[in-house]
Amino acid sequence: VSEVIIRKFNIKDYPEIIALWDKVKLPYRPEGRDSYNNIKAQIANGQTIFLVAEVDGKPVGCVLGTHDGRKGWINRLAVEAAFRRRNIARSLVSELEGEFEKLGLEVFACVIETENEVSQEVFKRLGYEFYDVRYYSKRKTPKS
Ligand SMILES: CC(C)(COP(=O)(O)OP(=O)(O)OC[C@H]1O[C@@H](n2cnc3c(N)ncnc32)[C@H](O)[C@@H]1OP(=O)(O)O)[C@@H](O)C(=O)NCCC(=O)NCCS
Repeated sequence: VSEVIIRKFNIKDYPEIIALWDKVKLPYRPEGRDSYNNIKAQIANGQTIFLVAEVDGKPVGCVLGTHDGRKGWINRLAVEAAFRRRNIARSLVSELEGEFEKLGLEVFACVIETENEVSQEVFKRLGYEFYDVRYYSKRKTPKS
């Protein structure tokens, strides 16, 4: 079995990561906050920790962490189907939590769509507690 390497995202990974999000049908915003230019700006803003899991030189998973000085947020976690159930998501999240902890953060959180039962089970397994809340957001531009 090939080794899994967790490393920082590089903007050169962008096309492969977008292809991965497409493949795993993860809802993302290619014209909005996940556009090339926006991701490029985010990885430079000091509040984003974007990690990639690589096998044989190829990205097979990723997680995009953001922090606001209060909490560490876990976004866009994805692992290619052929590489699932090998603890890659666990490693990505654990590495990200370590980075958050280095910044003094002690609360980590994520938002999961109600119908995404797998992801809910995964986060439960990773030690996350479920809070039954309603999520509200306001958008300047429609979802794209
Ligand atoms: C969610 C996802 C990232 C999990 O990736 P993964 O690498 O297979 O997960 P891991 O192997 O690290 O598993 C972590 C834990 O979750 C459990 N788990 C993983 N997939 C599971 C499934 N389908 N059903 C039940 N438990 C599951 C594992 O058993 C493990 O727990 P354990 O160590 O107690 O056994 C992957 O399924 C995925 O990319 N899904 C589509 C995208 C998505 O929904 N992303 C989340 C958006 S919020």
